[in-house]
Amino acid sequence: MPVEKIVKLPVVKPIHVEVNRTRDVEEQRTSLPIFYEEFQIISTIKENLVTILCGETGSGKTTQLPQFLYEAGFSFPEGKFSGLIGVTEPRRVAAISMSARVGHELNDSTLSSYQIRYEGNVTSSTRIKFMTEGVLLKEIEEDFLLRKYSVVVLDEAHERSLNTDILIGLLSRIIKLRKEMSDNNEDGVLPFRLVVMSATLCIKDFTANERLFDCVPPVIQVETRQFPVTIHFNRRTPLDDYLEETYNKVCKVHTHLPSGGLLVFLPSQREIMALAESSASTEDESETAVTIPNLSCPPLHVLPLYSLLPHTQQMKVFRPPPTGARLCVVATNIAETSITIPDIRYVVDSGKVKQRTYEFGEDSVSRLDVQWTSQASANQRAGRAGRSGPGHCYRLYSSAVFQNYFEQFSRPEILRLPIEGVVLQMKAMGIVNVVNFPFPTPPDMASLVSAEKHLVNLGAVDPKTLKITCSGTRMSKFPVPPRYAKLLDFALDHRDILGYVIVIVSALAVGHVFLSDYETTNGNSDRGPSSSQKAKDEMLGACSSDLFALLRVVGAYEYAESTDDNELLRIKGAYQSLHSDDLFFIHQSSVLHATLPEWAIYTELVEVGSKKYMKLLTKVDPAWVPLYAPFICVFTKPRDLQNARYDPQLDSVCTRLSATAGIHSWQLPSRELP
Ligand code: CDP
Ligand code: MG
Repeated sequence: MPVEKIVKLPVVKPIHVEVNRTRDVEEQRTSLPIFYEEFQIISTIKENLVTILCGETGSGKTTQLPQFLYEAGFSFPEGKFSGLIGVTEPRRVAAISMSARVGHELNDSTLSSYQIRYEGNVTSSTRIKFMTEGVLLKEIEEDFLLRKYSVVVLDEAHERSLNTDILIGLLSRIIKLRKEMSDNNEDGVLPFRLVVMSATLCIKDFTANERLFDCVPPVIQVETRQFPVTIHFNRRTPLDDYLEETYNKVCKVHTHLPSGGLLVFLPSQREIMALAESSASTEDESETAVTIPNLSCPPLHVLPLYSLLPHTQQMKVFRPPPTGARLCVVATNIAETSITIPDIRYVVDSGKVKQRTYEFGEDSVSRLDVQWTSQASANQRAGRAGRSGPGHCYRLYSSAVFQNYFEQFSRPEILRLPIEGVVLQMKAMGIVNVVNFPFPTPPDMASLVSAEKHLVNLGAVDPKTLKITCSGTRMSKFPVPPRYAKLLDFALDHRDILGYVIVIVSALAVGHVFLSDYETTNGNSDRGPSSSQKAKDEMLGACSSDLFALLRVVGAYEYAESTDDNELLRIKGAYQSLHSDDLFFIHQSSVLHATLPEWAIYTELVEVGSKKYMKLLTKVDPAWVPLYAPFICVFTKPRDLQNARYDPQLDSVCTRLSATAGIHSWQLPSRELP
């Protein structure tokens, strides 16, 4: 354990700011466990530069602590210091809704404001400023002393996003700097305090890290009044079908259980919208009133909730549902701890989370994958059902899976991301000396050094100053690993290939484009080459680069997805017929199977599985088309087709065929050829 240093603490002026709250608000506040801890919390914050405040979701941390600080005089401006109370939130929805709630409780909405990336309502009257973590990082870049703030509260620290960890490291330095300057009476600098707030923090990461703070920060634990929540595990764990399982469970809860809101946890926007859309939707896409088919039960008022949903739509979850309807919020882990949705009695938990992960190895690719969440997160999810009364949580996985496959806490993002990307982001924030940076959970030092070298090789970091270069700054804006960002940056100067590079980089970032690769990496390689591997070899063997092969594959996929695309290209060995919108393939019995001629005629079509294969083919010279099959041609200029004769010019005639420009096979015409 680090040795606790004796520090002379700066005195906080004993100011008490009067607040005229409404009776309703006062009553509501007294029901919160944190309300009775105000004295202890404020005394601890006054006596320490860093304080850790833990308490279950709903105990009142986010809404009450900023008010305690305001009333205790932390927002009092002095000299060059405007004495703001800053509160960071990992998500926009929390920053906006919490600032409004605190303004409401203080009975003066001008006192509490928010700032998110592109919008905010901060004015000179603002005393409490809620913001996203990115906003505070930007402000540190502009003023490392954070002169505006007397105290910053880092909310939801347990999420351990990259931004949280970098902010903690930076703020630990700002605390020291302001303390030293204040002790030396430099430039009228006042001390700066930090409160780290969280629901389920792995506390030792902050208290047992000598490099982080000069002292062991005190930890205040707020007790919570929580109604009992009965946990129901599934007997078996669905493999891929958790969406259907979720839908069935929602229907069951709605049709069988007494009134009370329902909160469903799914990993991402895609699944949330799929679940919402599996029911009849109203005109407003974000809001779905559902009556479960053939059952006489009240309507289910379904609302999606995920980070990218416009915030006006996110705010709808706080409103009561229409009279007689049951509220059902389908959310990502956004509803786990950062916001409290009123009157939730039932939770349906898929147990899944979409997380950025990093595959260690030569490839250094990070990707967003759906995985099991942690035990701590699953418990938070369950807790949402017990805020307003006894509740139930339905876990769509077995208790054995929970015990054996769920990590105790979610791993900090900094340990899950490719280190080159982390280093590039830090350099972009102006942190040059990444090796000595006080990370709460430090990554391996040797890998930090090699990441720095890698970025120098990519031209993203200057080899002498180790500062970020112009190219590196542009690269840092792309949410892909630096080596791919370099490709994009290079292509910016070669606009003619930019589109292709974007496709290639997207495919690289997604990873596992080929099923056969996936099979191989998942331990099925001992079965010998699979049929999909063979198909891949045959179709893409001629490509001179695996990246070009990816380009082809994405093009083929795009093509297969579009049904009315007349701009047909020959892609993945697929042919377009004159007589069908379907794609045809050359059957492997044909001698043309390996050579894939550009144009061909076929005499027989067979269907194998979902694919159509052409048999008995003949390669065709495109110059023959207008000569022998003029009826399938549309010419750009009127021509006397009857008099068409073969001549060398016909090649160029073919290039002027508009309707046939992309047609690569046609069936032998039944009528006699001229
Ligand atoms: O931060 P923590 O999870 O500890 O609690 P909080 O967000 O401060 O919420 C405290 C209480 O205020 C909860 O019971 C919420 O239901 C309530 N609250 C509310 O009614 N309206 C809001 N916009 C935010 C919170
Ligand atoms: Mg909170």
